[in-house]
Amino acid sequence: MAIVLLTGASSGLGAALAPLLAADGDKLALAARRADKLAGVVDQIRAAGGEAMALPLDVTDRDAVHAAVKTVEETWGPVETLIANAGVGKPVSPETYDSSVVEWIFQVNVMGMSHCIEAVLPGMLRAGRGHIVGVGSLAGYRGLPGSGPYCASKAAVRLLLEGLRVELRQKGIPVTHIAPGFVETPMTAVNEFDMPFLLPLEAGARHMYRAIRFKKAHYAFPWQLATAMGIGRALPNGIWDRVLAGQKAQKSVAQDD
Ligand SMILES: NC(=O)c1ccc[n+]([C@@H]2O[C@H](COP(=O)([O-])OP(=O)(O)OC[C@H]3O[C@@H](n4cnc5c(N)ncnc54)[C@H](OP(=O)(O)O)[C@@H]3O)[C@@H](O)[C@H]2O)c1
Repeated sequence: MAIVLLTGASSGLGAALAPLLAADGDKLALAARRADKLAGVVDQIRAAGGEAMALPLDVTDRDAVHAAVKTVEETWGPVETLIANAGVGKPVSPETYDSSVVEWIFQVNVMGMSHCIEAVLPGMLRAGRGHIVGVGSLAGYRGLPGSGPYCASKAAVRLLLEGLRVELRQKGIPVTHIAPGFVETPMTAVNEFDMPFLLPLEAGARHMYRAIRFKKAHYAFPWQLATAMGIGRALPNGIWDRVLAGQKAQKSVAQDD
């Protein structure tokens, strides 16, 4: 049983993961911008006998994240597990290349995660225990056409977590990097391209649950796509470029921006 801060809890993987953790007795502080959606997840958890609170916030707002962590600490005690899951994506083609989209993706995916880590770390270091979980993506291993900014943000997430992992291991705070492939969520529902090995939402949330419970350093799923991306990582650039040549800029759009 742990006091958990879970971001991106209003939809998709976060909303599906929350009840699994609550069923084990975890107390869940659920963060996202949409208060109505968060309230629905909180109600679902409470109806099943679990404990949850809603923290409507934007993870790009550093002060709001710190204030939310303070609220958790004053209500339940220090955050013991951070699951930094909030994330966004949007395609950028050479014709529509727009730095403000790149900035937005990095603000949410990288700085949002960083704000959360910054806010919970002092409490974990004082306690000499805790668990930091960050959600990256298999897209964080190589640049994909149309998704460069998203891939870059998820590569940043991976390396941010890896750097922390080495240091925090000695302090009793494991760090887990989760790299999903394609999972059926609102984020992928708008994609118009083929999504190999697309997983149902429940299966994706179960994978994340396992990674968290076993405190894995790195957990990529599904294995088929993780293996393919592993091979892709090892490919020379010339072959990689030829394999992906002709793939159209992805036409997906994020839920908003
Ligand atoms: N689905 C996939 O195939 C897949 C694959 C690889 C990685 N991932 C990663 O998995 C994580 C969850 O994605 P998902 O597929 O479940 O997508 P989703 O259904 O769109 O959920 C994204 C969550 O992030 C929250 N969020 C977005 N911007 C935020 C902000 N500025 N502040 C606070 N919360 C914010 C959203 O809540 P509000 O809109 O209410 O703020 C929502 O709860 C993301 O990090 C994503 O990159 C997903």
